[in-house]
Amino acid sequence: VCITAHAITHQAGYLAVDEYVRSGMVIGLGTGSTAYFAVERVGQLLANGKLKDIVAVPTSERTRAHAAQLSIPLATLDEHPALDVAIDGADTVDRGTLALVKGGGGALLREKIVEVAAKKLVVIVDESKLSEGLGPHFDLPVEIIQFCQTHIRRQIEGLPSLKGCKANLRMPYVTDNGNYIADLKFDAPIADPSQAAAELSDTVGVVEHGLFLDMASVCIIAGKDGVTTTHA
Ligand code: A5P
Repeated sequence: VCITAHAITHQAGYLAVDEYVRSGMVIGLGTGSTAYFAVERVGQLLANGKLKDIVAVPTSERTRAHAAQLSIPLATLDEHPALDVAIDGADTVDRGTLALVKGGGGALLREKIVEVAAKKLVVIVDESKLSEGLGPHFDLPVEIIQFCQTHIRRQIEGLPSLKGCKANLRMPYVTDNGNYIADLKFDAPIADPSQAAAELSDTVGVVEHGLFLDMASVCIIAGKDGVTTTHA
């Protein structure tokens, strides 16, 4: 079963690059086991000359190391503030809206800053990530500062739109940016994700949250019967 799932997500990652990356582009490279295959494909196509003049902005130290190993030219948003496309995995994709939960791998802050700078965000997932609504399917990661982390988690639990959630500290874990992650557990779908996003962003001590709303333009889904593409 593992070998099958692996082979399928591999196809989604490769297809995303084949369909959406062209020579001369500035691209964002995501983080995680699915995004891994997109990075691998960019490396292959650069090595065999089918892609040229690519500059990539990685979304984590892990992805930076992988891309560097494949000799993919790297840059930051400081040098290239506008990206043609970004490709990344997700922890949950809401079927109806392509709203995402991200941050299971802890890279949500760099993923968000890079991916909002992209003209197009291509999401690659296996079908187990699809859900009706966001929340119960996968705990919502929120990056918080270390200072007074218990207080910040209590503040999050008290937000009106997140009523009933439990904010667990991910331990032992420190992000690439030196912060902690609180994983928010829900029993029912988040009723108003936009309101939840706004309330989280307004909470002092919250650096960023893993709700990626109105960002994905395309979702490439690897299922047992093959790969399908959905547009927002
Ligand atoms: C990383 O922080 C996450 O946002 C990943 O995109 C997410 O966890 C998906 O990872 P997998 O492809 O490994 O499931």
